[in-house]
Amino acid sequence: MIRTKLAGIGYYVPEKVVTNHDLTKVMDTSDEWIQERTGIKERRYATKHKETTSSLGARAAEIAIERAGISKEDIDFIIFATLSPDYYFPGSGVLLQRELGITKTEIGALDIRNQCSGFIYGLSIADQFIKTGMYKNILLVGAEMHSSGLDFSTRGRNVTVIFGDGAGAAVLQPTEEDKGVLTTKLHSDGTYAEKLAYFNPGAHGGYHFDKMGEEIDFGYSDAEFGEMFLNQHMMDNAQTYPVMEGKFVFKLAVTKFPEVIMEALTEVGKTPSDINMLIPHQANLRIAQFVQRLLKLEDHQVYNNIQKYGNTTAASIPIALCEAWEQGKIKEGDLVCLAAFGSGFTWGSALIRW
Ligand code: UT7
Repeated sequence: MIRTKLAGIGYYVPEKVVTNHDLTKVMDTSDEWIQERTGIKERRYATKHKETTSSLGARAAEIAIERAGISKEDIDFIIFATLSPDYYFPGSGVLLQRELGITKTEIGALDIRNQCSGFIYGLSIADQFIKTGMYKNILLVGAEMHSSGLDFSTRGRNVTVIFGDGAGAAVLQPTEEDKGVLTTKLHSDGTYAEKLAYFNPGAHGGYHFDKMGEEIDFGYSDAEFGEMFLNQHMMDNAQTYPVMEGKFVFKLAVTKFPEVIMEALTEVGKTPSDINMLIPHQANLRIAQFVQRLLKLEDHQVYNNIQKYGNTTAASIPIALCEAWEQGKIKEGDLVCLAAFGSGFTWGSALIRW
């Protein structure tokens, strides 16, 4: 039986450390508030004009490729997950290919937009391609450069203090050994798409907002056709930043995380006590702690690093996975569980025999 193994993993975080105290210099917030509500102490920001989402991804990918013991030219498919792409289009997958110096054109590059669940969605896609025999070396990258698109005024503090920059990567290969991805579970529910979103630039034309009965003035009354995607009104009214109804998202997250973890465990005939390491998407330390308590997991069964990096969205799972592995907390034969919930809403889980 062919399974998908993680042949090499890597992560990269920018050098610049931004503490909670640093943020208090530009907005009305405090170290106490941020730590108490989220667990975050500091995060990393990329170097302006030098680094991009795809360049962060490339640094993580280089490590994963080296650890897999292959060369860049062996990669036959790229999957790139991000919500903060270098360009609106083309996607970051081709930019990563260029940044890595992969000149071979007999490969595909796919961009996926599943925000916090991006890495798990990507893993699931890769798993299908490997199991069907279509590809032998898939490079999966989750990377974010949030710092380039956040509202650094007090108005944006509920979102801005949470996010950080970084990248994680994995090289996925087929194996006939009794290891690798055992199952992946994917879910979505578009009902609450606007609860955690980045609306503009976009072609919505206010349509969904009318349906929701909400009144947000995007400046369409005097916008011409060509200005509907992005216009001065949006810029002037801070409508080009992410928005989130935090409490609403929190409540759903703490329900969906345990549900989707149990769904995967049940499928393979396991229980929470069989998990050697749970890597939850690093959205909020309080969410991870809640899930840990609910599933009755010991501290050594869960890995969190949001304290150092904040929420790095598509990058958070591969960064945490790689860090835990580098620290010797994940060993051969371990049952590793990945789980995520985020904008969309989309959520998912994966079980991996290491
Ligand atoms: O990764 C994607 C998925 N995302 C998540 O899972 C995030 C889930 N949600 C959360 O983690 C939490 O809702 C937050 C950490 C985002 C916010 O915590 P909260 O306890 O839900 O706070 P809140 O947004 O309800 O705001 C409470 C108060 C408000 O003041 P008033 O109205 O009570 O006077 C906010 O204005 O805290 C205020 N506030 C802040 N104060 C200081 C909001 N942000 C800040 C801030 N510093 N950064």
